[in-house]
Amino acid sequence: MEQKIQLKESDIPRQWYNLAADLPTPLLPPLGPDGKPITPDMLAPVFPMNLIEQEVSAERWIDIPEDILNILYRWRPAPLKRAVYLEKYLETPARIYYKDESYSPPGSHKPNTAVAQAWYNKEFGIKKLTTETGAGQWGSALAFACQLLGLECKVFMVRISFDQKPFRKIMMQVWGANCVASPSNETNAGRKVLEEMPDTPGSLGIAISEAIEEAVTDTSGTTRYSLGSVLNHVLLHQTIIGLEAKKQLEMAGEKLPDIVIGCAGGGSNFAGLSFPFVADKINGADIKIVPVEPTACPTMTRAPFAYDFGDTACTTPLLAMYTLGHAFIPPPIHAGGLRYHGMAPLVCQAIVEGLLEPRAYHQLDSYNAAMTWVKTEGAIAAPETSQALAAVIEEAKKAKEEGKEKVILFNYSGHGLMDLSGYDAFLSGELVDYELPEEELQKYLQDLEKLPKAEKRKSGKW
Ligand SMILES: Cc1ncc(COP(=O)(O)O)c(C=O)c1O
Repeated sequence: MEQKIQLKESDIPRQWYNLAADLPTPLLPPLGPDGKPITPDMLAPVFPMNLIEQEVSAERWIDIPEDILNILYRWRPAPLKRAVYLEKYLETPARIYYKDESYSPPGSHKPNTAVAQAWYNKEFGIKKLTTETGAGQWGSALAFACQLLGLECKVFMVRISFDQKPFRKIMMQVWGANCVASPSNETNAGRKVLEEMPDTPGSLGIAISEAIEEAVTDTSGTTRYSLGSVLNHVLLHQTIIGLEAKKQLEMAGEKLPDIVIGCAGGGSNFAGLSFPFVADKINGADIKIVPVEPTACPTMTRAPFAYDFGDTACTTPLLAMYTLGHAFIPPPIHAGGLRYHGMAPLVCQAIVEGLLEPRAYHQLDSYNAAMTWVKTEGAIAAPETSQALAAVIEEAKKAKEEGKEKVILFNYSGHGLMDLSGYDAFLSGELVDYELPEEELQKYLQDLEKLPKAEKRKSGKW
């Protein structure tokens, strides 16, 4: 039995898969400040038109330009691996497979869309991209892509991660990007937050506001903003993961997985792996599909489905999603990439439909799972990925109890070699579990009362 299932470069998927084409109930439209659906041209100051077209596309398959594939070949197709040592340790009859996205130069799935976004922006004549980053994985992925494509890159990094992960900042600088801590003094949005909360650890919502402001205030018109998750086109670019995995599972002699698992911050790595299998489920397959989040930031498991802004300064269109409220300041847990207040609308609509079964784990559950992974498979997982590992181990134990040979597939979204301060805190016993108190959640949700309501529409099939 092969532990690594490798595709040839010539077998790489040549189209991305768009779940919007197959969802039984369409997404609710993004709304503008007047409460009316926005039109594509309203997004033009923020994104290039070629990406806006992808954002609103209802086409099932979208061709991947050859130039983008030529850059992705640096690490793609990514291997599908079988976690044989973990299986043995758990004495489970389950067969556990994972896509190893830690193979990319910045160390996660994020470059799959960073390269695509940088390429489309360049095609459109853009010279500079701005963005936010939580854990630093996304910022370093965009820095990497911008360097390869000759674009300037400015990254607003959430203050707590900026302090916890200095090496991520250096990676971005090595790839030629300018990285500042957010909130910063460089934007109106940042200065306003600093006046009110000088000691804030920051949030992705604040950093997004800063990055958008910097892009739209560039009077040359050659700067745009780039988002590392949440939006339809970002999830689209990540589907190369699941499409590769399908071919690789077949090579391993498997039909479909019984369980698909991914951690979800804004939803992109989870969607990238799972959406091609969500399509199978829509067509009748029996697959349990599980997005995983931290109990400290329980967007999918405890928040309402509502219209909300994507950022703290309320500059983005209103998106229909599960949301903790745009003012949410997450507790400083180590899974920095899982601290966003909202969730990708496509993932949310699939939850509303009953196609997905979201789940939350405590921080200590995920670090314990990561330590089991280190002990068996040997690799040091990103704290975000460790949330998925907690679910994988729980499902593998369940398969043992039930005596069932389940096929579990998950996304190993990144390595944790730049996240060692979290492991340090875990090993020295400093880490504690945190569950968002209900009063605090209700306080953040008050902001949603003034906004349009989002109707939960579903076909009732699942
Ligand atoms: C390694 C890793 N996994 C997962 C995530 C979560 O993001 P998303 O839900 O967009 O995949 C991040 C975000 O920074 C990350 O760095």
